[in-house]
Amino acid sequence: MSRSLPAQPKIQVFPDYEALSRAAARVVAGRTRANPEAVLLLPTGTTPLGMYRRLVEMHAGEGLSFARATFFNLDEYLGLTADHPASYHVYMRENFYGLVDADPRRVHVPEGNAPDPQAECERYERMMAEVGGVDLCVLGIGRNGHIGFNEPGAPFDSRTRIVRLAETTRLVNAGDFEGGRAPERAITVGMRTIFESREILLLASGANKAQAVAAAGGEVSEAVPASMLRRHPAATFLLDREAASAVGEIS
Ligand code: F6R
Repeated sequence: MSRSLPAQPKIQVFPDYEALSRAAARVVAGRTRANPEAVLLLPTGTTPLGMYRRLVEMHAGEGLSFARATFFNLDEYLGLTADHPASYHVYMRENFYGLVDADPRRVHVPEGNAPDPQAECERYERMMAEVGGVDLCVLGIGRNGHIGFNEPGAPFDSRTRIVRLAETTRLVNAGDFEGGRAPERAITVGMRTIFESREILLLASGANKAQAVAAAGGEVSEAVPASMLRRHPAATFLLDREAASAVGEIS
């Protein structure tokens, strides 16, 4: 193999989505077993569904417990109530928190319809600090290289805040919304807060992520948010073959 892989993050390539999902679940389960009070920062979207499915199986079949863990989600659309079908509250309840023994008092998703969204961002950031920061952050990656809803150009020193979504993100995420577009704005955990996680896993699956993954392995630049992870001492990219297909082409 003559491809020039970046020194960091570590890259692991799996034959398919199922293998990638199982590997991600193994890491989350391992960290939670080693430290039952682990603080986890988690994504929504299509990519982590297999990981959540596997974690739910491990909870049901192997006694994996999340009862003492603390959970934060990376983002939520601004303006959505917690029971809106397209909200990340509902997604997380239906795909993970509601299917395992997570303690609702230790489950946190930004409140998209908070009366004072700015105060909600500050509250959210404060809660993460008060529990001692994040032990393990799991990320997906947008086709434009975004992590959380930190779109290209997001400052590396940003904290939890209100952001405007890229037009492409609004189209890609249109799924559950009327009018063919996701909301204009969202609350996202910031770049600096993500970076301060003690360990980071980025999951990517499919050919439509190949360019973003390759760009993330190129020059570190705010134009490609995921490239920040190259500077992180304990970041790993878990990729399936298709998502890894352009690694090394961009530098
Ligand atoms: C969602 C999030 C986003 C997604 C990214 C990839 O909470 O933080 O950064 O991880 O948009 O989404 P999927 O997995 O749907 O391709």
